[in-house]
Amino acid sequence: MKKFIYIALASSVAAFANAEIPAWHPPTKGEVRSPCPGINVLANHDILPRSGKNLERQVVVDALSKWYNIDVAISTGLFEMAVNFSGHAGASSFDMVDIWIHHNATVNAIEGDASFSTVWKQTRSFWQGKTIDVQEFGNAAQARYLTSNATNPTFYFPDVQNIGAAMAFMTSVLGDPVAGTVPTRFVDDWIVNERLPARLGWSTNEKLTDLATLGDLGAKNSGKFFHAGGHF
Ligand SMILES: *[C@@H]1O[C@H](CO)[C@@H](O)[C@H](O)[C@H]1NC(C)=O
Ligand SMILES: *[C@@H]1O[C@H](CO)[C@@H](O)[C@H](O)[C@H]1NC(C)=O
Ligand SMILES: *[C@@H]1O[C@H](CO)[C@@H](O)[C@H](O)[C@H]1NC(C)=O
Repeated sequence: MKKFIYIALASSVAAFANAEIPAWHPPTKGEVRSPCPGINVLANHDILPRSGKNLERQVVVDALSKWYNIDVAISTGLFEMAVNFSGHAGASSFDMVDIWIHHNATVNAIEGDASFSTVWKQTRSFWQGKTIDVQEFGNAAQARYLTSNATNPTFYFPDVQNIGAAMAFMTSVLGDPVAGTVPTRFVDDWIVNERLPARLGWSTNEKLTDLATLGDLGAKNSGKFFHAGGHF
C-alpha cells in the first residue's frame, strides 16, 4: 500500500487557470529533485520550494490538494511516506534528494537520469495516438515488466505490479478518471519537462482523486497487462 501510493505520486499532474500558475523553470544549480515527477513539477513552478529542500507537511498537503485535487488523507499519507523514505521518520519536512529509494543521492543523480531516458523511450513507444487509453498503458507496463525482469538482476516484482496504480494516479489528475484516458501531450509535458501542461489545455481535474477513484482505475489498468504473461 505504501509503495502503491508512492509510485502513484510519481505519475500525477494537474493545474488551474493558466494565469494563476506560478512561472515555470527547470531546477538550477543547487536545487534538488526527487524520483517523483508529481512533486518535481510543483517545485519547478515554485508551488513547492524551488530548492527542493525542507518541504513541510502543510505546504505539501496544500499543494497536492490545490493543484492536483488529491484527497487530504492521501496527500498526508504521501508526505509521511516521503519523510519515511528520507530516513527521518517523524520529521516535519523532507528534502527531495533524500527520497531516492535504492541508492544514495550521488549514485541516483547519475543512474536516475540514465535509467529514466531508457525507460521513457521504451514506455513512450507504446503511445502513438493523441490519447493514451488503459490498454496502451497496460501494454507499456507489461513491456517494462518483461524488460526489468530480463535485465535488472535486482528486479523486484511489486515495483512493477504497482504500475497500475501509477497509471491510475496520472489518469486521475491529468485526464479522464472514469474512462481512464489521458491526452498524450499532457503526459509528455509533465514527464519530460516536469511542467504543468496548462498552456496545452490542461487544468486541475474537478473530480477529487481519492482511494475510490484510484482503486477503480488501478483495477482497470492492472486488468490490461500481463493478460498474456499470466504473472498476475
Ligand atoms: C512512517 O513510518 C512510521 C514509523 O516507522 C510508521 O508508523 C508510519 O506508518 C509510516 N507511514 C507511512 C505513510 O509510511
Ligand atoms: C553513495 O554511493 C556511492 C557508491 O556506492 C559511494 O561511492 C558514495 O560514497 C556514497 N555517498 C554517500 C554520501 O553515502
Ligand atoms: C521473471 O521471469 C521468470 C521467468 O518467466 C519468472 O519465473 C519470475 O517469476 C519473474 N520474476 C518476477 C520478479 O516476476
